[in-house]
Amino acid sequence: MKSLYAQFRKVFGDSGEIRSFFSPGRVNLIGEHTDYNGGHVFPCSLSIGTYAVARKREDSIIRFYSMNFEEKGVMTVNADKLVYEAEHDWANYPKGVVSIVKQSGYDVSGFDVLYYGNIPNGAGLSSSASIELATAVLLNELNDIHLEMVEMVKMSQRAENEFVGVNCGIMDQFAIGMGKEAAAVLLDCNTLQYSYSPVVLKNAALVIANTNKRRGLADSKYNERRSECERALSQLQEHLQIESLGDLTVEAFEANKHYITNSIDQKRAKHAVYENVRTIEAAKRLNAGEIDVFGQLMNESHVSLRDDYEVTGLELDALVEAAWAEEGVIGSRMTGAGFGGCTITIVENQFLHSFQTNVAKTYKEKTGLTPEFYVVEIGAGAREINQLSEAL
Ligand code: GLA
Repeated sequence: MKSLYAQFRKVFGDSGEIRSFFSPGRVNLIGEHTDYNGGHVFPCSLSIGTYAVARKREDSIIRFYSMNFEEKGVMTVNADKLVYEAEHDWANYPKGVVSIVKQSGYDVSGFDVLYYGNIPNGAGLSSSASIELATAVLLNELNDIHLEMVEMVKMSQRAENEFVGVNCGIMDQFAIGMGKEAAAVLLDCNTLQYSYSPVVLKNAALVIANTNKRRGLADSKYNERRSECERALSQLQEHLQIESLGDLTVEAFEANKHYITNSIDQKRAKHAVYENVRTIEAAKRLNAGEIDVFGQLMNESHVSLRDDYEVTGLELDALVEAAWAEEGVIGSRMTGAGFGGCTITIVENQFLHSFQTNVAKTYKEKTGLTPEFYVVEIGAGAREINQLSEAL
């Protein structure tokens, strides 16, 4: 934090009150591609994330600077004239949040802000939602708006959908805004009702493994999956009173799936329905301390994402299959949008070392890539952190 404050003063000058904020990344334990299908998700917020150091201005100028992209320098915009600009790159995310907060009728003055993030870039741990929530919280505090966190979560999702043009669901922003230390949040994406589950794994740990495969075409495939599910839903709605695929039980889906005429759309809908049911079951099992069953459900989730939803690909499959073959692995699956990014695995503590060595070796042989591992620490959601001690 000291070096962030020092860099802030160097870039933006010395005067005025400086305040600091932190917003985590997220990892999803189970419930993938269910959020925009009106189903359940079960993510947690991480201890890594995005720091923002900011100072309010009296005019409407906003100056953005990121220590992760120093070559881009300071980007200056006017809060009253915000539009998406490709050359602003990462700054379009915070610009989008300012724009949506203003559109929602709140008065926002200008500010200077420096960001620093320690979420691996492009790894699918939601660095974009993290910077969105960091910005929403700083706007809320600097301007004394008194928004509820859930409102900031919704506005951040709108910023990504409407300003940046990525049609994501609400999971990432919700996990990052509402996350709680040492807990996962079971969220019903239809109603936004939620509950926390303590993540108690006894003698095991959660490990994120990064394929180090950048996502590339992810966004277009993501939107393609959304359309496939929407088509399936509208065919089902000709015969059933449902609002989303998340309303269906497995039995109801099996009895009515023939109404979905395209076989690919049918597979996508099958994943959405089964994964939603699996997620509710998984949260129950975790609450009951049945970690082995939870792990089995994680494995089933991966198989469904691989075979029915088809969002895994060579790298994610290689990493998960290598994990499944290891002693001490309780469950392993891809996490996030897919097509690259990360996996999440429950590993018994005594096998943590052999797990990493052996999986790295097999994965490298299959893909030529070197994976990275992080033992997950579940931290709290987005917040102001003015005390240095909390930030260090
Ligand atoms: C991305 C999106 C989320 C969610 C996941 C898949 O992370 O941003 O809304 O759809 O993919 O579960």
